[in-house]
Amino acid sequence: MHICLHLNVNAQNLVGVTPEGIEVPCSLIDGEMQKKLRSLPKESQPSTPSGPDPKWRYMWRVGPRPSTTQFQELNSEPVIPEGFLEWKETMDSWGSKMISAIEAVAEMAAIGFGLPKDAFTGLMKNGPHLLAPTWSNLERHGKVGTVFAGYHYDLNFLTIHGRSRFPGLSIWLRNGKKVEVKVPVGCLLIQTGKQIEWLTAGDCIAGMHEVVVTYQSEYFLDKNKDYVVAEHQALLY
Ligand SMILES: [Fe+2]
Repeated sequence: MHICLHLNVNAQNLVGVTPEGIEVPCSLIDGEMQKKLRSLPKESQPSTPSGPDPKWRYMWRVGPRPSTTQFQELNSEPVIPEGFLEWKETMDSWGSKMISAIEAVAEMAAIGFGLPKDAFTGLMKNGPHLLAPTWSNLERHGKVGTVFAGYHYDLNFLTIHGRSRFPGLSIWLRNGKKVEVKVPVGCLLIQTGKQIEWLTAGDCIAGMHEVVVTYQSEYFLDKNKDYVVAEHQALLY
């Protein structure tokens, strides 16, 4: 599972489940972007998606809500799936820990930019932050090369990820080089979104990324898809 928290200063988002086949990566429809991508060296070109992303995503709002708001659509009621005890407690607990981690990073970034330490966290206060567990059916879509999330950037301020059980996330450095992400045990990954690009006038640019099956998962997943056999660990981390 690939868990990320989208922290928004202000962006419209859904809550509840978005099934596979709905989200369309910008690289599929943006002609300008496609032209730019063809100019990258072969080894840094993103995979070409054949259609909408075959991933599932669930969105859960975390953190305090404003008492009054002009943006009711950003503050819609949560969707709690049936049959999961302690859903709210679990999601809120993980979500608030992720927010704390990202607030610390946002304060450090503000200090680094020579701004008051609450320059970014002040804007995040009562924001419609989203905890967004994301998963993919490797039984149906486990073929190496399958694009789970086509090349894109995030629209929010910062995205923080727990460590995924499977590899496949690649990011692009500022110089256009593609790098496969490996998150060490006990670490989180933070990506910059479009809002921090605007807030810093481009000093930080929104990080481009994609998720593609890079691992022959169909050969050694057991029935419940819940763990990877020991001899294949090295492939993953
Ligand atoms: Fe993303």
